[in-house]
Amino acid sequence: MSELTIAIAKGRLQDAAIALFRRAGVVIPQEAIESRRLRIEDESGRFSFILVKPSDVPVYVEYGVADAGICGRDVLMESQADVHEPLDLGFGRCRMVVAGRPESAKRGYNPLATARIATKYPRLTADYFQHRGVPVEMIVLSGSVELAPALGLSEHIVDLVETGRTLQENGLVVIDTVLESTARLIVNRAGYHLKRSAVAALIDSLRHAL
Ligand code: PRP
Repeated sequence: MSELTIAIAKGRLQDAAIALFRRAGVVIPQEAIESRRLRIEDESGRFSFILVKPSDVPVYVEYGVADAGICGRDVLMESQADVHEPLDLGFGRCRMVVAGRPESAKRGYNPLATARIATKYPRLTADYFQHRGVPVEMIVLSGSVELAPALGLSEHIVDLVETGRTLQENGLVVIDTVLESTARLIVNRAGYHLKRSAVAALIDSLRHAL
């Protein structure tokens, strides 16, 4: 039985996370990475990795199904999960922004009308607009959010920008930054104490590998 179970966000952060573990001496066999198995072990058998959707990483860690996890600050803040966040891993840097078509960016918000915003991040979006006193109608999507303004589904979007290419190729411009994000190591609160030495060793070896 492995010492620690670690949840890794599939997709953009996955390769960098696996490379970080490899630099820290935790080697996951290539065959396992390429397989369709969602639970894999490192060569030593000390670590078990589960590969899950980014927004599910904080859920697995908060409930203690995984002792630790790697996910973006964006999904961590959206989840409001009660977990330790001992390390900023520095990779996966991106911004969460409000974006829209250039003409609507120039117009600004009409205080008498409710703005329609499409996003995958309803909680952070609601907070952002509430703080600015802008009434919004939220349209929650699961991906390809940049399509919404082009198709008239919403006036603006709140989404992630990494290179800016997706916004540009869909005729959108940045209106404002909601938050900056990088990948974080998160740890289950109870496990932080109950598995103190294994968790401390993990944090230490990842810190050195950064
Ligand atoms: C993310 C994000 C943007 C895009 C930004 O989407 O939601 O759509 O990447 O990257 P860029 O600025 O480098 O173009 P992802 O690929 O994760 O897929 P999604 O459509 O499911 O959100």
